[in-house]
Amino acid sequence: MQYNFPVTRTTHPKPRYEDESSLGFCHYFTDHMFIMDYDEGQGWHDGRVVPYEPLRIDPASCVLHYAQMMFEGMKAYLRPDGRLQLFRPDMNAKRVANTCERMVIPVVSEELLIAGIKAVLAEDADWMPKSAGTSMYIRPFIFGNEISFSALPAKHYTFVIILAPCGSYYGGASGTLQTSRIYVQDKYIRSARGGTGYAKVGGNYGGAMRASEDAKKYNCKDVLWLDAQEHKYVEEVGTCNAFFRINDEVITAPLDGGTILPGVTRDSVLDLLRHWGEKVSERRLPIADVLEASRNGTLQEAFASGTAAVISPIGCLNVKGEDFPVADGEVGELSKKLYKTLYGIQTGAVEDFMGWTYPLDICVK
Ligand code: COI
Repeated sequence: MQYNFPVTRTTHPKPRYEDESSLGFCHYFTDHMFIMDYDEGQGWHDGRVVPYEPLRIDPASCVLHYAQMMFEGMKAYLRPDGRLQLFRPDMNAKRVANTCERMVIPVVSEELLIAGIKAVLAEDADWMPKSAGTSMYIRPFIFGNEISFSALPAKHYTFVIILAPCGSYYGGASGTLQTSRIYVQDKYIRSARGGTGYAKVGGNYGGAMRASEDAKKYNCKDVLWLDAQEHKYVEEVGTCNAFFRINDEVITAPLDGGTILPGVTRDSVLDLLRHWGEKVSERRLPIADVLEASRNGTLQEAFASGTAAVISPIGCLNVKGEDFPVADGEVGELSKKLYKTLYGIQTGAVEDFMGWTYPLDICVK
């Protein structure tokens, strides 16, 4: 289907960020947003690009009470030739479909998702940051928007896409890697079998904040989640997928239990490592094995992966106040190589030998 969305340009452009090197994560939002409605019997309709502005939501709107919503995290990158490109948007679209199915939200198709992104990006391309390590974060989200206190799927939904120029998620200068301390969480859980762990829903993140906040007591940036049933196996790190390199084997938690978010970066890391001939396993990894590897010197690297976080190396794990260093606590070689290659492919600085990029007909002057 050919989409042609009407555009209303803002008459009040916002002040721009001044220093790209300290953009951080999503502190500025661009001048426009994409918005579309869904009504039962009518489907998705009236997509449009409008000035970025607060949404008016009735206090009795169901999303504010029962959290029937979903979101995605994607980025647009600036190529050396001045064109913008997306990275594996088909994978985001698949996750949108799976999340919508889980949350009983009407699905937005890949075609519509990309058309909405293109429409708003075309208006705000001049917001694109240009420095190393930066990109334009894209946040599509859908929420049930019906005045109703019945805990039932809504009949009306709103789909919005907003954009934010961004640098590093965990702080630090854009384009540089530094290690973080991570607290091994054994009290709270992120996700159980049959829950919503594999879906991108706000509740997964809101429910994790208590644990992330408590991790600060141990001077840790975030938590390493363990499985809900036995508190025995490693699952994710904060809002990211988790990887451990022990004895030359790179291990990450498998997707089959439905508790792990199928990260686009996770999948890309696995593919790159396999392409490079590294030994890679998607298997359950006991936390006891990770701690033993820290003690006996075979824990070579650990890192988190995500769209926002890209590759975020871990320098130390903390268990109830006791530190377990990851190798020498410095950024590992594989983390550096993965970051350089991934961000290089995403920005067109490295040839896309995996066929992952999705160039757009949008140029930055
Ligand atoms: C992303 O990595 O894009 C996410 O959605 C995680 C979020 C907490 C920033």
